Amino acid sequence: MSDRLIIFDTTLRDGEQSPGASMTRDEKLRIARQLERLKVDVIEAGFAASSNGDFEAVQAIANAIKDSTVCSLARANDRDISRSAEALKGARRARIHTFIATSNLHMEKKLRMSPDQVFEQARQSVRFARNLLDDIEFSPEDGYRSDMDFLCRVLEAVIHEGATTINVPDTVGYAIPELYGEFIRSLRERIPNSDKAIWSVHCHNDLGMAVANSLAGVKIGGARQVECTINGLGERAGNCSLEEVVMAVKTRRDYFGLDCGVDARHILAASRMVSQTTGFVVQPNKAVVGANAFAHASGIHQDGVLKARDTYEIMRAEDVGWSANKLVLGKLSGRNAFKQRLLDLGVEMESEADINAAFARFKELADRKSDIFDEDILALVSEENTLQGDDAYGFVSLAQHSETGERPQAKVVFTVHGKEVHGQSDGNGPVDASLKAIESHVKSGAEMVLYSVNAISGSTESQGEVTVRLQNSGRVVNGVGSDPDIVVASAKAYLSALNKLQSKADRVAAQG
Ligand code: KIV
Ligand code: ZN
Repeated sequence: MSDRLIIFDTTLRDGEQSPGASMTRDEKLRIARQLERLKVDVIEAGFAASSNGDFEAVQAIANAIKDSTVCSLARANDRDISRSAEALKGARRARIHTFIATSNLHMEKKLRMSPDQVFEQARQSVRFARNLLDDIEFSPEDGYRSDMDFLCRVLEAVIHEGATTINVPDTVGYAIPELYGEFIRSLRERIPNSDKAIWSVHCHNDLGMAVANSLAGVKIGGARQVECTINGLGERAGNCSLEEVVMAVKTRRDYFGLDCGVDARHILAASRMVSQTTGFVVQPNKAVVGANAFAHASGIHQDGVLKARDTYEIMRAEDVGWSANKLVLGKLSGRNAFKQRLLDLGVEMESEADINAAFARFKELADRKSDIFDEDILALVSEENTLQGDDAYGFVSLAQHSETGERPQAKVVFTVHGKEVHGQSDGNGPVDASLKAIESHVKSGAEMVLYSVNAISGSTESQGEVTVRLQNSGRVVNGVGSDPDIVVASAKAYLSALNKLQSKADRVAAQG
């Protein structure tokens, strides 16, 4: 059995299924490039048959990515599979990932198909796909809750038809590590041709065990591919987190004995990019990428780390992209220092013009905030990246007045298709007044379903990063804004969400 663990990233497909996380083609392409820098083995770029937007995103990624395999999801039917193959034409290495549900519950209630019909459809689809491409992955959806005998029958047949990877999803996050590991092991032992395919794990996090289940699938079950997402992004409680699985395997190589090709130094930049693009904030105590992941607050721990860092640190912050010295740049820093810092953080900008634009925003920020931390730079770059040329709304300025005992007032100046407009309102607080000032002009009628503020680098001197989730006519979008003034950050986040609602770009999520 191989001692290499394949990392299959599905941030752009399964991760995108989170409410409001759907991304435009350009956003997906940017993240795909970061995943390539990270050296993930397989990038699941989307679900080509689900919408024209997703087809174009898969196509653009297939044409741009050279080092990772690019994959498209497809239901087990000829149309979906052909559409995937078409979108993947330009890829240097391409994979079709086809799936059909195999649990009694899903077959009966969702598909309304008999087990024999599902068996036949799975077999035919893999045969069809294998005529188009050599690299075919098959997933029995809700596999973990499927009848073992039936599952063995289906998987043996699809391997016989040429499936090269067999992925066993715990679609609803029901598994327990030991049981899931044993489940994979039994499948591999019972299926006569199991050695002809690579076995893969795909775990959802509903009981908080996606990473533990995936690792058990590897250790106990002998799986050699893990499907995961940056920050564990995904619907409901999310998917298995890439950064946690990768760092577990690297840090405990003594236990797993596996090689993993991911270049972990790019993890933090990938985490920031995904969080900023989707509006899904990373909790401060999140392993590896949370703001507190390497912060030693207690005196005993600080003392220990200063004497010998391995007293309390099992990983080095800089190995996953955190800088050892977090205070990096200030007002007097030049363009070269800024550019070098971006490189150190694993951020590659597409052109000199992009660097100049980011540097100009850095200077603006440095005028207002004395110490610029890595997190500020990453937020600034991500915000720069999410600004679209065709955005309807742009922030210009904001003035607000609030005093104890008085109702806060706000005036917001913003652009609508390049033309400046002024909105004015009162509100329950300064944020409420500012967003109402914008809404008084825009009249979007959107419902706000989430508002959250996060201090980017921990103290009151830090920038606030605000996420606003809006819902309108069945669409859900997230907008993100950052600024040292959280009222301004809120206005920027609101305008960013309005831009996404307005955007003509196809944001239909790829539904599995
Ligand atoms: O969770 C799941 O079952 C999936 C499949 C489509 C692989 O995402
Ligand atoms: Zn899934």
